[in-house]
Amino acid sequence: MSHSELPADLTDSTTGESVTIQTEQGLYVDPKALSAHLPALSYRGDALYMEQVSIDELAKQYGTPCYVYSKQAILDVYQAYTDSFASLNHQVCYAVKANSNLAVLGVLAQAGAGFDIVSRGELMRVLAAGGAASRVVFSGVGKTYSDIEYALTQGIGCFNVESISELTLINEVAKSLNKPAPISLRVNPNVDAKTHPYISTGLKDNKFGITHEDALAVYQQAADLSHIDIVGIDCHIGSQLTEVEPFVAALDKVIELIHSLRDAGIELQHIDLGGGLGVRYIDETPVSIDEFAQALLPKLSELGLTVFFEPGRSIVANAGVLLTQVDVLKPTEHKNFAIVDAAMNDLIRPALYQAEMAVIPSMLPSAGIDTDGTQPWDIVGAICETGDFLAKDRLLSLATGDVLAITGAGAYGFTMSSNYNSRPRASEVMVSGDSHQLIRKRETIEALYADEALWQAQ
Ligand SMILES: Cc1ncc(COP(=O)(O)O)c(C=O)c1O
Repeated sequence: MSHSELPADLTDSTTGESVTIQTEQGLYVDPKALSAHLPALSYRGDALYMEQVSIDELAKQYGTPCYVYSKQAILDVYQAYTDSFASLNHQVCYAVKANSNLAVLGVLAQAGAGFDIVSRGELMRVLAAGGAASRVVFSGVGKTYSDIEYALTQGIGCFNVESISELTLINEVAKSLNKPAPISLRVNPNVDAKTHPYISTGLKDNKFGITHEDALAVYQQAADLSHIDIVGIDCHIGSQLTEVEPFVAALDKVIELIHSLRDAGIELQHIDLGGGLGVRYIDETPVSIDEFAQALLPKLSELGLTVFFEPGRSIVANAGVLLTQVDVLKPTEHKNFAIVDAAMNDLIRPALYQAEMAVIPSMLPSAGIDTDGTQPWDIVGAICETGDFLAKDRLLSLATGDVLAITGAGAYGFTMSSNYNSRPRASEVMVSGDSHQLIRKRETIEALYADEALWQAQ
């Protein structure tokens, strides 16, 4: 492509809230304009910083690929939830699946957060990080006997029950331990969350929850079980919701049920609205936590119940970046490929959900945006899959050795990473002010096969 086809000055062309320019050749994301919308990230001169620490310094010290999280950014969002709902008895149960590093969990536990978990492993992490089991809700469609036994023994706050067979199993385990199990039913309200189909969970076609129509009868069944203690009602309709209307529609359906339950003599202590609030990755305009609260508070206040939330993405996504280095530049007749040292095994969101994530340089070209050097690039990993891409058709000025930051990577980044192609998982670092600390060592290749064995039997 000829350079003259690019807008003369890309930086002057972004307007209003948008930080991008879509050209025929690709998408230009203005790094400075984007960073102004992201907590903890800023350019000082040409250099990208997280809090008070230079990104290049972090890349040099810890190597790449490396996830870096801002402690303050995590705490600020947690605080925004607690401030916005201060007028209600409430509990923010951070969804561990979004980012389960012990340091992240520990910071949130210290701030007073509860947790939403979906496995025994996540509960063990919460306890290891200093979280209290009594402030944990246990979600998920496939809890096993031993998961339930472990959670009950630890004093779990509540099981979010997703089926009658799970309810029966919980009663059985509780009976064997002679310890009543606190439960809520996860109701599927059949509301369209208007998000990617893979992260929509509140429709009849989804595997989650008990249908709105069946919920009353299942509660009545639960009330008859000897070792079940009904404490709440729960619903989670999906993730990365940018509008408030689906939350309100789901809440209306749950409130309807709460009234029917009251009529049937079943009193609850809490309502759990799940997680799902979306974030700005590039140009999205999600409702703010405060707008979310304003829309829900009038309806919630009337109920007189404690309110639980299970936010994951909104707490950690924009607190994190994935740092990666450009290893190879491979221009071809049809496409330019920048092969970087992170790949789909490190960050699967682009491949799995067609997620668009911003890729910004650790160091801006010294003369500002260098339009002469700007080319459209596919940012890809070294994995043997065509689906191994982190971003496509991005207008960037690149050289080998450059360090890039993929923003919005704090949620569903490391936790969804794998060892595909025998690639060790990335290291993780936390930044606070001008200090930083390794919070997970990069895996060694030897560790990947240390638990395997050669075939020795005849
Ligand atoms: C039951 C439940 N609660 C909470 C969450 C967290 O959602 P988010 O990260 O979108 O806030 C999820 C995510 O899928 C979930 O399944």
